[in-house]
Amino acid sequence: MARAGLINALPKAELHIHIEGSLEPSLMLDLATRNNVSLPFSSREEVLAAYQFDQLQDFLNLYYQGMSVLRSRVDFRDLATAYLARAAADNVKHVEIFFDPQGHLPRGVAFDDVLGGLNDALDDAARNLGISGHLIMCFLRHLDEVDAERMLDLALAHKDRIIGIGLDSSELGHPPRKFKNVFRRARDQGFHLVAHAGEEGPPDYVWEAIEILGVDRIDHGNRALEDRELVLRIARDKIPLTVCPLSNLRLCVIDDMREHPIRRMLEAGLIATVNSDDPAYFGGYVNENFQALDTALDLTDDEVIALARNSFEAAFIAPDEKARALARLAEAAG
Ligand code: ADE
Ligand code: ZN
Repeated sequence: MARAGLINALPKAELHIHIEGSLEPSLMLDLATRNNVSLPFSSREEVLAAYQFDQLQDFLNLYYQGMSVLRSRVDFRDLATAYLARAAADNVKHVEIFFDPQGHLPRGVAFDDVLGGLNDALDDAARNLGISGHLIMCFLRHLDEVDAERMLDLALAHKDRIIGIGLDSSELGHPPRKFKNVFRRARDQGFHLVAHAGEEGPPDYVWEAIEILGVDRIDHGNRALEDRELVLRIARDKIPLTVCPLSNLRLCVIDDMREHPIRRMLEAGLIATVNSDDPAYFGGYVNENFQALDTALDLTDDEVIALARNSFEAAFIAPDEKARALARLAEAAG
């Protein structure tokens, strides 16, 4: 076991958090009432009882239903404010938050309200909690590239607040190459690029994310370990992986936390980080993800410190900010 209190004490960055996946059942029910949206649940217990997943798609069906309660700028502000308070309690100092505009625009929500509400919360958190943060806009990969191009057009007016472009939703059957042109345009426009790959999808999807999309980070990446040459490439190019242990367990990417590949990733020289993905659905925020790994794998202090260090190494922050964050981490590590 890592030293008692070490996980809590270390400053961390969270780089893989879908803001819609931080919608706790109590807030979901409150927003349903506020906005007169009907849900098939009447209590927190009923919501939680529905969270049984055999695969990614089972979760996604509930995730899209849950986010249907989000309607106004203040709803998005309330959602992100709750997440940022929770992250601050875990000693998270920097966040890179995914959001899914294509999950909101079809019900008449304005892009500016989504972005405005999230930025209101980020501005408050910077002032009141000392957390810095950026937004990463994700394309839903089950939709087509033309739809993603429309989202990129909308994002161009907000380049000061959107630091990157990502790719999420149903992985199998929707390989990264489907989004080749829109990712090239996003890169030309100066966005950082990330993509979910190798969560359920095969190593080939990770290759495509790297070689065709040109991503700066891979979200998940578990299945990359099946391909030795791919692991060497990810290590050589220092492409970080944003790994999500409780998500992996709840979505049956692994059968048991004792099988989690995080140690193998570190041993292979990969810049693996620990993240919560959709904490309201998977039962834990960042520290609970670290704790679950520690309990199952008996992490050493050095492994915990390396994972926290990797989170800042992998963050889209300026070199001077990174150096300051790493110095504070070294001090907290003792
Ligand atoms: N959207 C939210 N969480 C996701 C995950 N774990 N995989 C793919 N898409 C997602
Ligand atoms: Zn994710």
